[in-house]
Amino acid sequence: MLILAPMQGLTELLFRKAFERCYPCAFDYAISPFLSLTHGNLRNAGKKVEDVLPELNEGCIPVVPQLLGHEADGFVELANRLYELGYNEVNWNMGCPMRRVAAKHRGSGILPYPDEVMEILDYVMPRIKPALSVKMRLGYRSSDEIDAIIPILNNYPIANVTVHPRIGKQLYSGRPDLEKFTEILPKIAHKIIYNGDIFTVNDYHKIRTFFPEVKDVMIGRGVLYNPLLPNQIRMEFPDDFLDGGVARNAIRMNCGGVMKEGDFVVSLMEDILRMEISQDAKVRKMKEYWCLLSKGLPGTEERKRKVLHAESLEAVFDLILEMTK
Ligand SMILES: Cc1cc2nc3c(=O)[nH]c(=O)nc-3n(C[C@H](O)[C@H](O)[C@H](O)COP(=O)(O)O)c2cc1C
Repeated sequence: MLILAPMQGLTELLFRKAFERCYPCAFDYAISPFLSLTHGNLRNAGKKVEDVLPELNEGCIPVVPQLLGHEADGFVELANRLYELGYNEVNWNMGCPMRRVAAKHRGSGILPYPDEVMEILDYVMPRIKPALSVKMRLGYRSSDEIDAIIPILNNYPIANVTVHPRIGKQLYSGRPDLEKFTEILPKIAHKIIYNGDIFTVNDYHKIRTFFPEVKDVMIGRGVLYNPLLPNQIRMEFPDDFLDGGVARNAIRMNCGGVMKEGDFVVSLMEDILRMEISQDAKVRKMKEYWCLLSKGLPGTEERKRKVLHAESLEAVFDLILEMTK
C-alpha cells in the first residue's frame, strides 16, 4: 500500500481533495495532519476536526485522523467522537520533532518516557472504540529509545506502526537510519509501515528490496516534489522516464490519463483561489505550496523564485500559470 504522510499545513483537506481529483487512487489512504489534544479539552482540536469531517472529505483520499498529545482523557474523548463520525481507526503521533511540542512529552518527546507511553495506552486502549495505529520516530535524543517502547507496543492490539527512522532532534537532517530500522524490524509484533526520504522510484524499490517484509510505504515530501511519484511507482515507470517533456506527455496521454504535474499545481492553486480566506492568506498558501511543488517542474530556480517575490494574488497566480504551461 502507498500511504500519504500527514504534513501539517500541506496534506490538509484542500490538498487531499485536489490530489484525489487529479490522481484518483494513487494513494490507498492518508493520515491527516495532527489534531492536537491541547490541555485535555477539544478547544483547538475542535476547529481542526473540520479537516476530517466526512461530509467535507467526500471524493477525497480516504483518511485516518491523527491525534497529537498525551492527555489520556482528551484522547479517549476525541477518538470516540471520531468513531461516531465514522472513523474506525485513529493514529497517535509519537513522531513530531518540534521542540515546543516535544518539550511537553508530546510527539517524539514522549519516546524517552516509556512509562508514560504505557500509562497512556493502559488508559486509552480499553476505552476507545476505533482501532489505534501509531506513527513514530526512533527516539527523541537517541535511536535507542525505541528499544524500550517496542515491548510496550507489543502488549497492545495496535493496528500498525509507522516508523520514520530518524530521531526527533535531527528534525529532517541526515538520512534515515536503516541500520537501526533493520535491527528493530523483527522485534515489532505489529504490521510495520516504512516512512522517510522516498523521493524517487529508486528510493521506493531500495526500501522494498532491503525490507521485503515491509509491504506498506508512507510518502510525504516526495509527493510534493513530484506529484506523479505514486503513479510512477504503481505503473513501474523508472525515474528517468520523466526526463524530457515527451515522456511527461506520454504519461498523460497513454497511461491511464495521468495528469501532468503542472496541471495538478494549477488545479490546487485554483482551489486556493476559491477558499474563503483573506487574499493575504491565499498568497501565503500559494507560495508555501509553490516552494515544494515547483521543485519538480521544469525551469530555472531563478525564474521559479519570481513567484515568491510577487506580492498580489493575481501576480502570484499568473506567474504560476505561466510556469506550469
Ligand atoms: C511540514 C511538515 C509537516 C508535518 N506534519 C506532520 C504531522 O502533522 N503529523 C506527523 O505524524 N508527521 C508530520 N510530518 C512528518 C511527515 O509525516 C513524515 O514523517 C516526514 O516528512 C518524513 O517523510 P518524508 O521523507 O516522506 O517526507 C510533517 C513533516 C513536514 C515536513
